[in-house]
Amino acid sequence: MMGSVTRWTGAATGEEYAERFDALAATGADVHGESTLCAALVVPGATVLDAGCGTGRVAIRLAERGLTCVGVDVDPAMLAVARARAPQLRWVEADLGALDLGETFDLVVAAGNVVPLVAEGTEAATVARLAAHVGEGGALVAGFGLDRAHLPSVAAVVALADYDAWCVAAGLRLERRLATWEGEAYAGGGYAVSIHRRPPQTL
Ligand SMILES: C[S@@+](CC[C@H](N)C(=O)[O-])C[C@H]1O[C@@H](n2cnc3c(N)ncnc32)[C@H](O)[C@@H]1O
Repeated sequence: MMGSVTRWTGAATGEEYAERFDALAATGADVHGESTLCAALVVPGATVLDAGCGTGRVAIRLAERGLTCVGVDVDPAMLAVARARAPQLRWVEADLGALDLGETFDLVVAAGNVVPLVAEGTEAATVARLAAHVGEGGALVAGFGLDRAHLPSVAAVVALADYDAWCVAAGLRLERRLATWEGEAYAGGGYAVSIHRRPPQTL
């Protein structure tokens, strides 16, 4: 793995990570909050970039719902699980901080603390690259912990004000802030899901 571009240590292998979610799903827990929210943000058949896709659990679910998904991650072990589970989808091994797929998407999603897990000092550049892949009228949705209690130990604490400023600098506007992927309004807690949109161009 490109160690210098991520704080993600690979402490859990791709298989272990996927098995953790599989076990949770087996208990009857809803592990698809992210994809349910994402699907509600786009029209049928829309395109989605799953940024920091890991084992592909969000992209695979969205593809099952008829969306056209591309997953990008820097960890080959995580991507190996994604490729094994959904070989028909496009999976790209790349650093989000330098990403240039040469196309834009209706939705870019960064689920699972991706922004606080990129390498120290690359957070703003990463958000700029994510935003560069959001098409006109499209959205960037990112969910991450905001304090130590809501983050893995290796992750950085990213302030919402900084995140918003990076999005605005990249041409996006804050549309909505939620406390969870299930849609509760954000009221200052330790986790937030932020939805920023690129305004459609007017003539
Ligand atoms: C906690 S996992 C979340 C995976 C997936 N989004 C999910 O919700 O299941 C964080 C992911 O971010 C990826 N990541 C961290 N830094 C990255 C970077 N600079 N470029 C691409 N992916 C990165 C890691 O490899 C890891 O797969």
